[in-house]
Amino acid sequence: MSEAAASPVKRPDDLMKKVVSLCKQRGFVFQSSEIYGGLKSAYDYGPLGAELKRNVMGEWWRDMVHSRENVVGLDASIIMHPKVWQASGHAAGFSDPLVDCLVSKERFRADKAPRPNPGDALPITCPDKGVAKDWAEQIEKRFGVVLERDGNVLGGLKAISATEFGFFAKGATTAEKTWPFRGYVSPSFGSPFLSDERQFNLMFRTALGAVDPMQDVALALAELSAASDLVAAVKAKYLSESADAGSAIAKAIAGGERAKLIRAVIETITGPNMAYLRPETAQAMFVQFKNVMDSSGMKPPFGIAQMGKSFRNEVTVEHFIFRSCEFEQMEMEFFCEPGTQKEWMAFWKEARMGWWQRYANYPENFRFRQHAKDEMAFYADDCYDVEYLYPWGWGELEGIASRTDYDLGQHETHSGQKLRYTDQEKADPATGKKPWQYKPYVIEPAAGATRAVLAFLLDAYHEEERRTADGTVEIRTVLKLHPRLAPIKCAVLPLVKKDGMPEKAREIIQALLGSGINAKYDEKHAIGKRYARHDEAGTPYCITVDGQTLADGTVTLRDRDTTEQVRIPATEAVDQVRARLAK
Ligand code: GAP
Repeated sequence: MSEAAASPVKRPDDLMKKVVSLCKQRGFVFQSSEIYGGLKSAYDYGPLGAELKRNVMGEWWRDMVHSRENVVGLDASIIMHPKVWQASGHAAGFSDPLVDCLVSKERFRADKAPRPNPGDALPITCPDKGVAKDWAEQIEKRFGVVLERDGNVLGGLKAISATEFGFFAKGATTAEKTWPFRGYVSPSFGSPFLSDERQFNLMFRTALGAVDPMQDVALALAELSAASDLVAAVKAKYLSESADAGSAIAKAIAGGERAKLIRAVIETITGPNMAYLRPETAQAMFVQFKNVMDSSGMKPPFGIAQMGKSFRNEVTVEHFIFRSCEFEQMEMEFFCEPGTQKEWMAFWKEARMGWWQRYANYPENFRFRQHAKDEMAFYADDCYDVEYLYPWGWGELEGIASRTDYDLGQHETHSGQKLRYTDQEKADPATGKKPWQYKPYVIEPAAGATRAVLAFLLDAYHEEERRTADGTVEIRTVLKLHPRLAPIKCAVLPLVKKDGMPEKAREIIQALLGSGINAKYDEKHAIGKRYARHDEAGTPYCITVDGQTLADGTVTLRDRDTTEQVRIPATEAVDQVRARLAK
């Protein structure tokens, strides 16, 4: 469901092509390893792109951390303990086929799922009555049957055989409708409406430790391939050595598939050193929740913010830097008292939309889309995407999710550590007694930084017709980036390369650089060409040193968007530029 906003502004059809081309020409974004034919889905940020990305992320940090008393920052390592990813659910798919429940969206391991016998009833036990009603409606829409609803349980389904289940109306002995059965149901809710089994490989694997595990793998495979009886050789070498490894291998032996057995051996050899590149920055905020709270004196409601690289083996990479395998995120976990999550969701929705629109030429091209119930994870109680109108349509920029206490609960279970806050002043609503010790609920605004770079570039790209001095009409390409995002804030241009103008321009440059303003000296080509070059780079201000400067100490200050020029004393250059940037 999208929330009403002002009508979006139509941008040119070929906008994406033009922005991608400008990115390469002007040094915003290059294909990674281009001279070797390029690396699919990896990008390098050139001199202007590096500045733009830093500015986007700097503005996010300024807004989320530096301008709030109740948010602190974190800069966690990209490689975390492998158990983090088991707790978060990211790791499950590496060596085991995963299945999605088509109704609850629960993702689970097929080999661990409950297996009813033929003839057994297959009741779907929903989290509550409201969810039961939603799921019954979904099932009716998608599978064409109306299940019997009794409180939070949906009934009428039965396993007919190991490969077929059906819907039996009350008292009926034959099925009204049947579907292929996978032989198991979803563990949390008992649903037989399931996707195909899929081998997921979302995270990038790496190995910790200086010794290359591939050498051990090679030696093991050489030995096993020479064996006349693979199973016997594996049993002799691995089943006696470790109970854990043995059980994984024993299962593979029982399965009887040669490839699976070899894979189990490889996993056993490499497993102890296996680590992953984080697929999101968020988990570190849950894992370090207690340390941050104890060391910084923060207490709920408070947030922990982090930005940085994340890595995902995306199934599809698309639209330039929109979806890539290596990207950057800007995420915040806001920990609040259970029951207050709705008001904090409203607060962060407004704050985040305000942030995106503050830097945009077309604020109408940003909107919210609320997730439908069947789109959300089963533990989430609300979720919105901030969407941008990309040239191919509306798409996600940021997700703002109300994640309940699910993540802290998962890390409590997997680590054995308590991740709670004790409020001495409040009574536990369940017992009526003080103190109240609870797992905070979480609102998570999770934005893509590299996706933000793309959105702001698309928003900023403009082509304008203008008449030159001789009356011809030409196209001016101008990147109307917000001055705070612009890579170069001010260019200083001597009108000609003589008469002391370069020296004066260099004096101004030094003053600007000395006060922390990223400025560039530029004396190459005619002045009109230089203005055009800086319009394309998104430089909001150009200061020109000309003949009059030498006579009265004034320079011209040109505004990128209006192209208007005002004369100001050269001595005021820094203050004038700084005042404009502060807006
Ligand atoms: N911790 C929650 C989380 O990571 P997500 O929706 O998967 O949620 C948050 O990611 C944001 O990160 C997305 O809204 C998007 O802007 C960005 N993002 C996710 N995958 C990306 C990819 N492959 N390439 C670029 N940006 C991505």
